[in-house]
Amino acid sequence: MKPKIFISRKIPDRGLNKIKEYFDIDLWPKYAPPSKKQIIRRIKNVDGMVSLLSDKIDAEVMDAAPYLSIIAQLAVGYDNIDINEATKRGIYVTNTPEVLTETTADFAWTLMMAVARRIVEADNYVRKGKWKVGWHPEMFLGYDIHDATLGIIGLGRIGSAIARRARGFNMKILYYDAIRREDIEKELGIIYTDIDTLLKESDIVTLHVPLTNETKHLINEEKLKKMKKNAILVNTSRGPVIDEKALYKALKEGWIAGAGLDVFEKEPTPKTNPLLKLPNIVVAPHIASASYETRSRMAELVAENLIAFHKGEKPPTLVNSEVLNIRPIKWKREA
Ligand code: GLV
Repeated sequence: MKPKIFISRKIPDRGLNKIKEYFDIDLWPKYAPPSKKQIIRRIKNVDGMVSLLSDKIDAEVMDAAPYLSIIAQLAVGYDNIDINEATKRGIYVTNTPEVLTETTADFAWTLMMAVARRIVEADNYVRKGKWKVGWHPEMFLGYDIHDATLGIIGLGRIGSAIARRARGFNMKILYYDAIRREDIEKELGIIYTDIDTLLKESDIVTLHVPLTNETKHLINEEKLKKMKKNAILVNTSRGPVIDEKALYKALKEGWIAGAGLDVFEKEPTPKTNPLLKLPNIVVAPHIASASYETRSRMAELVAENLIAFHKGEKPPTLVNSEVLNIRPIKWKREA
């Protein structure tokens, strides 16, 4: 009998087909995510689960699934999963790092440039027939990217990929991270500063930290007040890293010039979110890694993690390696 895997949404075929070769799958049929209750119902008798960042997997969910041996998350971030609780129960958790680094960095750059050069406002202006004067010396003035100072908060894989691209724009590059990376500083010619200096000196600030207790509302009113009036803030990490109420004030009252947001405190963000009324932001529905190729690679990596586990091998991108000391790489049902 093949192990049973619950997959909480349709994932790209390149990964799905590989999973089907080895496992019996229960694929959530809807475009919208299952609720916690629905997840609990579906995983009672499964050996593994493919989760998405919108699936909250906590102790209660895990307790409902006595055979759950592995959770393979289709995302690099995994703040939706209680890792300590998983480890305690001997549940292996994997994610999809690296394969999405470059695509996510491309998208953060897309937002930075879209905000700096007001591309969405300009597009609307043309489409809505407001373009009545052919060319005007002061029409849609924006901010230069080249030669500007870029501040990267979080110098992991994605933050570093952002820095590599910034060199092509001849930018001065500052970074802040809880861990200083002198090796990368030398390689990329970037400068380590404390977070306040970075906020004070940067023309563009881009966030690349995971969501943890320490990073929740890292960018709050006090921090926004430190930024330059011409500064642009871009978030492709997790919504709660920014206090949205404070950001609204900052944008409305001109403490900073603009923002690009791919992520929100609550997703999907409601149409009534006051931020959406502001002209100086560009928004997207959490799609930074959404290229055809990268989403297929993410799905393949999910399959590779499940298949490695099935073969008794360490999954290639295991998040909670302490679990190796708790339970061998074996399906719980077989133990
Ligand atoms: C997307 O946000 C991810 O964590 O992969």
